[in-house]
Amino acid sequence: MGFTEKQEALVKESWEVLKQDIALFSLRFFSLILEIAPAAKNMFSFLRDSEEIPQNNPKLKAHAVKVFKMTCESAIQLREKGEVVVGETTLKYLGAVHVKSGVIDPHFEVVKEALLRTVEEAMGKDKWNEEMKGAWAEAYDQLASAIKAEMNSNP
Ligand code: HEM
Repeated sequence: MGFTEKQEALVKESWEVLKQDIALFSLRFFSLILEIAPAAKNMFSFLRDSEEIPQNNPKLKAHAVKVFKMTCESAIQLREKGEVVVGETTLKYLGAVHVKSGVIDPHFEVVKEALLRTVEEAMGKDKWNEEMKGAWAEAYDQLASAIKAEMNSNP
């Protein structure tokens, strides 16, 4: 069975909740990334040189928003077309940026864990459930696969 309308709706619903306090959830997302993998700090230009995670940093927020939003877009594509299609130019850029920053495949699992925990906290006990988790996980995995494939396709 492919990605269902229900799964798409669960991802969209939680993205709407994240959006309402995006600064807070962006910070939380990065705190979790560093909690899971402290060494990841050195890859990010905006984290490298500071002791603390910077509040209100536009680059930090941009990365968090990209991950949340592109995962949500992937969920829509999975339901509509059965696959994630990232535009050629965007994919080339994403591949290059991550290779250049020293990102390797296992980092995608770290970001996945941080993403799922951020959404869990945003939704709270009443709304978070296994189905919602599964939908985010699947949409993220498919997007991450596309980026990793590009990263590993050194022309
Ligand atoms: C940069 C998206 C996963 C680390 C970027 C940029 C985008 C992006 C669009 C360009 C800068 C920007 O526009 O904000 C994504 C998406 C991901 C993902 C959609 C997963 C679905 C990861 C992972 C890591 C990572 C797993 C490593 C833990 C970085 C770093 C930069 C970057 C270090 C450079 C940022 C800087 O130093 O200013 N990413 N990313 N990303 N990404 Fe990712």
